[in-house]
Amino acid sequence: MTDQTLIILGASGDLTARLLLPGLGALLATGQVPGLTLIGAARDDWDDEQWRRRVAESCGEGVVSRTSYQRADVTDAEDLRRILGAARGPAAIFFALPPAVTARACDALLKLDLPEGTRLVLEKPFGIDGDAAAALNAVLARLVPEERIHRVDHFLGKSTVLNILGLRFANRIFEPLLSAEHVASVEVVFDEALALENRAGYYDHAGAMADMIQSHLLQILALLAMEAPGTLDAAEFRDRKADVLRATRLWDPSPAACSRRARYTAGTLDGRNLPAYADEPGVDPSRGTETLAELVFTVDTWRWAGVPFRLRSGKAIGNSRKEAVITFKRPPRIPDGLTGCDQPDRLRIGFGPDALGLDFNINGPGDPFQLDPVTLSAAFGPGDLPPYGEVLRGVFENDPTLSVRGDTAEHCWRIVAPVAKAWRAGEVPLLEYAAGSAGPKDSLLAQP
Ligand code: BG6
Repeated sequence: MTDQTLIILGASGDLTARLLLPGLGALLATGQVPGLTLIGAARDDWDDEQWRRRVAESCGEGVVSRTSYQRADVTDAEDLRRILGAARGPAAIFFALPPAVTARACDALLKLDLPEGTRLVLEKPFGIDGDAAAALNAVLARLVPEERIHRVDHFLGKSTVLNILGLRFANRIFEPLLSAEHVASVEVVFDEALALENRAGYYDHAGAMADMIQSHLLQILALLAMEAPGTLDAAEFRDRKADVLRATRLWDPSPAACSRRARYTAGTLDGRNLPAYADEPGVDPSRGTETLAELVFTVDTWRWAGVPFRLRSGKAIGNSRKEAVITFKRPPRIPDGLTGCDQPDRLRIGFGPDALGLDFNINGPGDPFQLDPVTLSAAFGPGDLPPYGEVLRGVFENDPTLSVRGDTAEHCWRIVAPVAKAWRAGEVPLLEYAAGSAGPKDSLLAQP
């Protein structure tokens, strides 16, 4: 690999310190990106030394040898020209910025001639709705070709999420059962113990639906429901994902019937007293931002028609649960005389702890005609790289497989648009749940 440069716009921010630099550090430690120059740019009045300390803290000492800091207004074309001028070899520009600032920075880039090989790396949320995403796509298309645009969804860099592909397509035993003929429902749940974590500036404008469902969980749905790609190259993998998402719509024409929204009130979680979301500093309670969202979809294809896909994510949940659960239909006929077959078979893919579980019924000890539920389980090993390391590897190798294609990014907003509209209009009540509880009582999930 030749010399190249990673430019981080928004270098002093939380995303850079918490996720981006540690991911970069893990990737560089594997020796896969020799000759990388790192440039951090932000408004803050830092100097190279301060930035180097930040890089060393997050990446590890000595991992990045060539790095510098540029104080800049990243929405100003002349400042961007200066930053690009400091790059060695082709540059990847990472917009670690809020969506509105990213859009202005992209507009400013239109005034420059971007060097051959420039890549643009954009964080989620990609826009704030379908129209904003389309407008941003139109600007990006004038800057670089689509294969050089990396729309990051770090869940696609999680090794357990990628394991869905191996599980489904490299084994004979599950895939033939994954269809409406055998599956009763699919649930993708990402309930976190984490609360707001000082992210009001971003989160209060996003909420759980945009933060998790419209982005990460729809990507997981796509991997669970896609047809087998012939290869995992970018074009084919992303085509198969797009096929599924194009067929994905709300389960019911009425958003009130197929969505729930809620926000947490004060409570106790892991021995900590948490304030109500509405009382967190920086939150404007009148926005009515949800901290938990549930949406039910149909994937309207020959394979999946009639199977509900329930997606849910919440913050400040006690006993957090992060998994996809495929619940199978009951056997067509259980012989008279076999008893205790009460639980349906379930395949569980855990996203932390990363594990696979298969629940089914067998005769346990004692009476051979009395069945009991058992679980076969296997741990998924951790990936070599954290998700951001995996995503950055794709960027440095010019491989957009794990990034979200432009049309898909727009489409994911359109899928949830009727719910967003109904919520804005107050047609679906904002429920409440105590921090540390299991979420609101009124839930669309089939199982707790
Ligand atoms: C981020 C969301 O994209 O994903 C956060 O903005 C969420 O709200 C996080 O907590 C979950 O991902 P991970 O990798 O930390 O489990």
